[in-house]
Amino acid sequence: MQKNAIPMILDGDPGHDDAIAWVVAQASRLTDGICDIRAVTAVGGNVSLKKTTYNMLRVCTLIGLTDVPLAAGAAHPLMRELMSAPSVHGESGLDGPALPEPGVSLCGLSAVELMAKVLRESAEKVTIVSTGPLTNTAALLIAHPELKEKIERISLMGGGVAYGNWTPAAEFNILVDPEAADIVFKSGVPVVMSGLDVTEKALILKEDVERIKSFHTRVGDIVWQWLEFFYQFHRKIGYAGAPMHDPCAVMVLLHPELFTIREYYIEVETGGEYCRGATIADVRHITQNPPNVSAVMDLDREKFVDHLIRAVEVYR
Ligand code: RIB
Ligand code: CA
Repeated sequence: MQKNAIPMILDGDPGHDDAIAWVVAQASRLTDGICDIRAVTAVGGNVSLKKTTYNMLRVCTLIGLTDVPLAAGAAHPLMRELMSAPSVHGESGLDGPALPEPGVSLCGLSAVELMAKVLRESAEKVTIVSTGPLTNTAALLIAHPELKEKIERISLMGGGVAYGNWTPAAEFNILVDPEAADIVFKSGVPVVMSGLDVTEKALILKEDVERIKSFHTRVGDIVWQWLEFFYQFHRKIGYAGAPMHDPCAVMVLLHPELFTIREYYIEVETGGEYCRGATIADVRHITQNPPNVSAVMDLDREKFVDHLIRAVEVYR
């Protein structure tokens, strides 16, 4: 295994930005070997589990991530009905360019069983990179507490210290399953939270898209069309570019030097009329509780974009 490799499980609800996060992770696996991907799991979120699973199979086929086990996980949150986001990602969850039909099948295990198997069989601790609702990860922690010490950290896209995006207080991934997020944040497993504070600064601008267009490659052509589709929704609400929410959860592992990280004690609001799903950071240390989250707060956007574009360029 590559000396500085990071054994990891990718868990998400593809989703345009999940798909781009996986493009980045697989590009690392194919080049520097840092992302040592052991499994990929789907969760209901942006769209139904059936659709996110189909999208997982299609994205993994597209990027050649067909030699690791793939599994479907939770169709709905631990204690609530699923709230999805077709307005952002389209009815399929990955609207825009045509994608290859799956050239790979599910491994036959559930996401929790596959995650547990990977943790059990790995000689090293494993990082879970979660870019959707945290239902699968919470279910793993509930079902297999004995495997908690095999989890190196949970690098997640979710939450926000300053604000939400689905309600004024809550970010979508946390809001979909706040009980799961509460379990994860209280688990004692190190959490690296790429919240809206950083992900809304991780913008892909028009000139960045043009750089990807210039590759004229199969993956490059799909990625720039994903970016253009994803930007359509965000442009309408005033964004200057497409926010690369989920890629931050991978990039902070690959290039931590690009990011500003603050250690906070963060609680997840699971009740409340206005604030359910909020990730409340004790910035002033009022509770005296030790930090439980490494909150990613800022980044060097230009270097982030350069690395993301270089990852897309890996695919010929
Ligand atoms: O709030 C952004 C998050 O919600 C991203 O993970 C996006 O894919 C959606 O799931
Ligand atoms: Ca996602």
